[in-house]
Amino acid sequence: MHRSRRARCFIFWGMEPKAIERAKTEGLVVLMSVGSAEEAKIAADAGADVIVAQGWEAGGHVWGQVSTLALVPAVVDAVDKPVVAAGGIADGRAMAAAMMLGTSGVWIGTRLLASREATIHQTYRTRLLEASESDTEWAHDLYDIDWPDAPHRALRNSTLQAWKKAGSLAPGKRPNENQVIGHRPTGEPVVRYQSYTPLPETSGDVEAMSLWAGQGVAQARKVSSAKDIVNEIYQDAKKHLNIGSTAL
Ligand SMILES: Cc1cc2nc3c(=O)[nH]c(=O)nc-3n(C[C@H](O)[C@H](O)[C@H](O)COP(=O)(O)O)c2cc1C
Repeated sequence: MHRSRRARCFIFWGMEPKAIERAKTEGLVVLMSVGSAEEAKIAADAGADVIVAQGWEAGGHVWGQVSTLALVPAVVDAVDKPVVAAGGIADGRAMAAAMMLGTSGVWIGTRLLASREATIHQTYRTRLLEASESDTEWAHDLYDIDWPDAPHRALRNSTLQAWKKAGSLAPGKRPNENQVIGHRPTGEPVVRYQSYTPLPETSGDVEAMSLWAGQGVAQARKVSSAKDIVNEIYQDAKKHLNIGSTAL
Protein backbone atom coordinates (compact mmCIF):
# COMPACT_ATOMS: atom_id res chain seq x y z
CA MET A 1 0.00 0.00 0.00
CA HIS A 2 1.27 3.49 -0.82
CA ARG A 3 1.32 5.80 2.15
CA SER A 4 1.66 9.52 1.57
CA ARG A 5 4.44 11.14 3.60
CA ARG A 6 3.30 14.68 2.81
CA ALA A 7 2.69 16.92 5.80
CA ARG A 8 -0.93 17.24 6.84
CA CYS A 9 -2.84 20.17 8.15
CA PHE A 10 -6.18 19.94 9.96
CA ILE A 11 -8.32 23.06 9.96
CA PHE A 12 -11.19 23.39 12.41
CA TRP A 13 -13.48 26.11 13.70
CA GLY A 14 -14.64 28.31 10.89
CA MET A 15 -14.71 28.24 7.13
CA GLU A 16 -11.82 30.20 5.72
CA PRO A 17 -11.20 29.20 2.09
CA LYS A 18 -8.07 31.36 1.96
CA ALA A 19 -6.49 29.29 4.77
CA ILE A 20 -7.11 26.12 2.76
CA GLU A 21 -5.70 27.69 -0.40
CA ARG A 22 -2.62 28.89 1.50
CA ALA A 23 -2.00 25.43 3.00
CA LYS A 24 -2.36 23.85 -0.44
CA THR A 25 0.12 26.35 -1.90
CA GLU A 26 2.59 25.18 0.75
CA GLY A 27 2.09 21.58 -0.42
CA LEU A 28 0.17 20.31 2.61
CA VAL A 29 -2.55 17.67 2.64
CA VAL A 30 -5.52 19.58 4.03
CA LEU A 31 -8.25 18.09 6.20
CA MET A 32 -11.10 20.51 6.83
CA SER A 33 -13.75 20.06 9.50
CA VAL A 34 -17.28 21.14 8.55
CA GLY A 35 -20.75 21.16 10.07
CA SER A 36 -22.86 21.36 6.91
CA ALA A 37 -22.90 20.26 3.25
CA GLU A 38 -22.67 23.90 2.20
CA GLU A 39 -19.41 24.34 4.12
CA ALA A 40 -18.15 21.07 2.67
CA LYS A 41 -18.65 22.42 -0.86
CA ILE A 42 -16.78 25.64 -0.02
CA ALA A 43 -13.92 23.60 1.48
CA ALA A 44 -13.78 21.25 -1.50
CA ASP A 45 -13.81 24.15 -3.98
CA ALA A 46 -10.96 25.78 -2.05
CA GLY A 47 -8.92 22.61 -2.50
CA ALA A 48 -9.32 20.66 0.77
CA ASP A 49 -8.22 17.05 0.27
CA VAL A 50 -10.37 15.47 2.98
CA ILE A 51 -13.62 16.70 4.49
CA VAL A 52 -14.24 15.89 8.16
CA ALA A 53 -17.98 15.99 8.83
CA GLN A 54 -18.39 16.69 12.56
CA GLY A 55 -21.84 15.92 13.93
CA TRP A 56 -23.54 17.48 16.94
CA GLU A 57 -22.96 14.35 19.10
CA ALA A 58 -19.24 15.11 19.19
CA GLY A 59 -17.31 15.86 22.35
CA GLY A 60 -15.29 19.02 22.88
CA HIS A 61 -15.98 22.06 20.73
CA VAL A 62 -18.75 21.42 18.26
CA TRP A 63 -18.99 23.59 15.17
CA GLY A 64 -22.35 22.56 13.66
CA GLN A 65 -25.75 21.52 14.92
CA VAL A 66 -26.59 18.59 12.65
CA SER A 67 -26.33 15.01 13.91
CA THR A 68 -23.70 12.74 12.37
CA LEU A 69 -26.32 10.42 10.87
CA ALA A 70 -27.94 13.28 8.96
CA LEU A 71 -24.80 15.28 8.23
CA VAL A 72 -22.56 12.59 6.75
CA PRO A 73 -24.76 11.50 3.80
CA ALA A 74 -25.46 15.15 2.96
CA VAL A 75 -21.73 15.90 2.91
CA VAL A 76 -20.90 12.72 0.97
CA ASP A 77 -23.46 13.73 -1.68
CA ALA A 78 -22.18 17.30 -1.83
CA VAL A 79 -18.49 16.73 -2.53
CA ASP A 80 -16.31 14.53 -4.67
CA LYS A 81 -13.66 14.15 -1.93
CA PRO A 82 -13.00 11.58 0.77
CA VAL A 83 -15.25 12.27 3.75
CA VAL A 84 -14.38 11.31 7.33
CA ALA A 85 -17.19 11.11 9.90
CA ALA A 86 -16.74 12.55 13.41
CA GLY A 87 -19.13 12.65 16.34
CA GLY A 88 -20.58 9.76 18.31
CA ILE A 89 -18.40 7.10 16.69
CA ALA A 90 -17.14 5.03 19.58
CA ASP A 91 -17.29 1.39 18.51
CA GLY A 92 -17.22 -0.90 15.49
CA ARG A 93 -20.96 -0.73 14.92
CA ALA A 94 -20.85 3.04 14.64
CA MET A 95 -17.80 2.87 12.36
CA ALA A 96 -19.59 0.35 10.12
CA ALA A 97 -22.65 2.60 10.03
CA ALA A 98 -20.49 5.58 9.01
CA MET A 99 -18.87 3.51 6.24
CA MET A 100 -22.35 2.53 5.02
CA LEU A 101 -23.15 6.23 4.79
CA GLY A 102 -20.28 6.60 2.35
CA THR A 103 -17.38 7.79 4.46
CA SER A 104 -13.76 6.86 3.84
CA GLY A 105 -12.91 6.78 7.52
CA VAL A 106 -13.88 7.87 11.00
CA TRP A 107 -12.51 10.42 13.45
CA ILE A 108 -12.69 9.40 17.08
CA GLY A 109 -12.28 11.63 20.13
CA THR A 110 -14.28 10.62 23.17
CA ARG A 111 -13.64 6.87 23.06
CA LEU A 112 -9.89 7.50 22.96
CA LEU A 113 -10.10 9.48 26.18
CA ALA A 114 -10.37 6.04 27.77
CA SER A 115 -6.96 5.11 26.40
CA ARG A 116 -3.88 4.85 28.58
CA GLU A 117 -2.20 7.42 26.36
CA ALA A 118 -4.80 10.13 26.96
CA THR A 119 -3.25 12.72 29.25
CA ILE A 120 -6.32 13.48 31.35
CA HIS A 121 -6.98 13.61 35.09
CA GLN A 122 -8.09 10.40 36.81
CA THR A 123 -11.30 12.04 38.08
CA TYR A 124 -12.20 12.97 34.49
CA ARG A 125 -11.43 9.45 33.25
CA THR A 126 -13.52 7.86 36.01
CA ARG A 127 -16.48 10.10 35.16
CA LEU A 128 -16.14 9.14 31.49
CA LEU A 129 -16.10 5.42 32.25
CA GLU A 130 -19.28 5.76 34.32
CA ALA A 131 -21.21 8.10 32.00
CA SER A 132 -24.20 7.09 29.91
CA GLU A 133 -25.19 8.51 26.51
CA SER A 134 -27.51 10.95 28.33
CA ASP A 135 -24.84 12.38 30.61
CA THR A 136 -23.43 15.03 28.29
CA GLU A 137 -24.75 18.48 27.51
CA TRP A 138 -24.25 20.75 24.52
CA ALA A 139 -23.93 24.37 25.58
CA HIS A 140 -23.30 27.56 23.69
CA ASP A 141 -21.25 29.49 26.19
CA LEU A 142 -20.87 27.56 29.44
CA TYR A 143 -17.09 27.10 29.30
CA ASP A 144 -16.43 30.30 27.41
CA ILE A 145 -13.49 31.68 29.41
CA ASP A 146 -10.41 31.54 27.12
CA TRP A 147 -12.58 30.42 24.19
CA PRO A 148 -15.73 32.58 23.80
CA ASP A 149 -18.55 31.96 21.29
CA ALA A 150 -17.60 28.34 20.86
CA PRO A 151 -20.38 25.80 21.49
CA HIS A 152 -19.21 22.62 23.14
CA ARG A 153 -20.29 19.31 24.62
CA ALA A 154 -19.12 18.10 28.03
CA LEU A 155 -20.16 15.82 30.87
CA ARG A 156 -22.85 17.20 33.15
CA ASN A 157 -21.21 18.27 36.41
CA SER A 158 -21.64 20.51 39.44
CA THR A 159 -20.81 23.66 37.45
CA LEU A 160 -23.53 22.92 34.90
CA GLN A 161 -26.07 22.03 37.61
CA ALA A 162 -25.47 25.25 39.56
CA TRP A 163 -25.61 27.33 36.36
CA LYS A 164 -28.91 25.75 35.29
CA LYS A 165 -30.39 26.10 38.77
CA ALA A 166 -29.57 29.82 38.64
CA GLY A 167 -31.46 30.14 35.34
CA SER A 168 -28.72 29.48 32.75
CA LEU A 169 -27.56 33.09 33.03
CA ALA A 170 -25.34 34.76 30.45
CA PRO A 171 -21.57 35.10 30.92
CA GLY A 172 -20.80 37.77 33.50
CA LYS A 173 -23.90 36.95 35.57
CA ARG A 174 -23.31 33.28 36.34
CA PRO A 175 -22.89 31.83 39.82
CA ASN A 176 -19.30 31.94 41.11
CA GLU A 177 -18.00 33.53 37.94
CA ASN A 178 -14.18 33.57 37.87
CA GLN A 179 -13.91 31.57 41.10
CA VAL A 180 -10.57 29.74 41.21
CA ILE A 181 -11.43 26.03 41.30
CA GLY A 182 -8.00 24.55 40.75
CA HIS A 183 -4.55 24.91 39.32
CA ARG A 184 -2.75 23.76 36.20
CA PRO A 185 0.43 21.71 36.63
CA THR A 186 2.29 24.99 35.97
CA GLY A 187 0.60 26.58 39.01
CA GLU A 188 -1.63 28.90 36.99
CA PRO A 189 -5.22 29.10 38.26
CA VAL A 190 -8.13 27.36 36.60
CA VAL A 191 -11.34 29.34 37.01
CA ARG A 192 -14.94 28.21 36.88
CA TYR A 193 -16.35 28.32 33.31
CA GLN A 194 -12.87 28.14 31.81
CA SER A 195 -12.34 26.12 28.66
CA TYR A 196 -9.71 23.79 30.06
CA THR A 197 -8.99 20.05 29.79
CA PRO A 198 -7.84 18.71 33.21
CA LEU A 199 -4.46 17.02 32.94
CA PRO A 200 -3.19 14.22 35.23
CA GLU A 201 -1.37 16.75 37.43
CA THR A 202 -4.16 19.35 37.55
CA SER A 203 -5.17 20.04 41.15
CA GLY A 204 -8.38 21.25 42.75
CA ASP A 205 -12.03 20.58 42.03
CA VAL A 206 -11.53 18.68 38.78
CA GLU A 207 -15.15 17.48 38.69
CA ALA A 208 -16.26 21.12 38.25
CA MET A 209 -14.02 21.72 35.21
CA SER A 210 -14.87 21.30 31.52
CA LEU A 211 -14.96 17.51 31.14
CA TRP A 212 -15.35 17.29 27.35
CA ALA A 213 -17.23 14.24 26.11
CA GLY A 214 -19.51 13.24 23.25
CA GLN A 215 -22.69 11.21 23.35
CA GLY A 216 -20.76 8.10 22.37
CA VAL A 217 -19.25 8.12 25.87
CA ALA A 218 -21.44 5.17 26.85
CA GLN A 219 -19.14 2.95 24.74
CA ALA A 220 -16.05 3.94 26.73
CA ARG A 221 -16.27 1.30 29.47
CA LYS A 222 -12.70 0.36 30.18
CA VAL A 223 -9.18 1.71 29.82
CA SER A 224 -7.00 0.07 27.16
CA SER A 225 -4.15 1.17 24.93
CA ALA A 226 -5.04 3.40 22.00
CA LYS A 227 -3.75 0.65 19.72
CA ASP A 228 -6.15 -1.90 21.21
CA ILE A 229 -9.10 0.48 21.02
CA VAL A 230 -8.42 1.26 17.36
CA ASN A 231 -7.90 -2.43 16.52
CA GLU A 232 -11.07 -3.47 18.32
CA ILE A 233 -13.15 -0.84 16.52
CA TYR A 234 -11.58 -1.68 13.14
CA GLN A 235 -12.02 -5.45 13.47
CA ASP A 236 -15.54 -5.11 14.78
CA ALA A 237 -16.49 -2.73 11.95
CA LYS A 238 -15.18 -5.24 9.40
CA LYS A 239 -17.26 -7.96 11.04
CA HIS A 240 -20.40 -5.84 10.86
CA LEU A 241 -19.67 -4.92 7.25
CA ASN A 242 -19.10 -8.61 6.58
CA ILE A 243 -15.87 -8.01 4.69
CA GLY A 244 -13.66 -10.62 6.40
CA SER A 245 -9.95 -10.07 5.86
CA THR A 246 -10.35 -7.36 3.22
CA ALA A 247 -8.92 -4.00 4.31
CA LEU A 248 -11.43 -1.23 4.67
C1 LIG B 1 -11.25 16.12 24.91
C2 LIG B 1 -11.50 16.60 23.53
C3 LIG B 1 -10.71 17.64 23.03
C4 LIG B 1 -10.90 18.09 21.72
N1 LIG B 1 -10.11 19.09 21.26
C5 LIG B 1 -10.22 19.46 19.97
C6 LIG B 1 -9.31 20.43 19.44
O1 LIG B 1 -8.46 20.99 20.13
N2 LIG B 1 -9.41 20.73 18.13
C7 LIG B 1 -10.35 20.13 17.33
O2 LIG B 1 -10.37 20.38 16.15
N3 LIG B 1 -11.24 19.24 17.83
C8 LIG B 1 -11.18 18.89 19.11
N4 LIG B 1 -12.07 17.97 19.61
C9 LIG B 1 -13.14 17.45 18.74
C10 LIG B 1 -12.61 16.26 17.94
O3 LIG B 1 -11.72 16.71 16.96
C11 LIG B 1 -13.73 15.49 17.24
O4 LIG B 1 -14.47 16.29 16.36
C12 LIG B 1 -14.69 14.82 18.21
O5 LIG B 1 -14.02 14.32 19.35
C13 LIG B 1 -15.41 13.67 17.52
O6 LIG B 1 -16.52 13.23 18.26
P1 LIG B 1 -16.46 12.15 19.45
O7 LIG B 1 -15.88 12.87 20.61
O8 LIG B 1 -17.89 11.79 19.63
O9 LIG B 1 -15.61 11.01 18.99
C14 LIG B 1 -11.91 17.50 20.90
C15 LIG B 1 -12.70 16.48 21.42
C16 LIG B 1 -12.51 16.02 22.72
C17 LIG B 1 -13.38 14.90 23.22
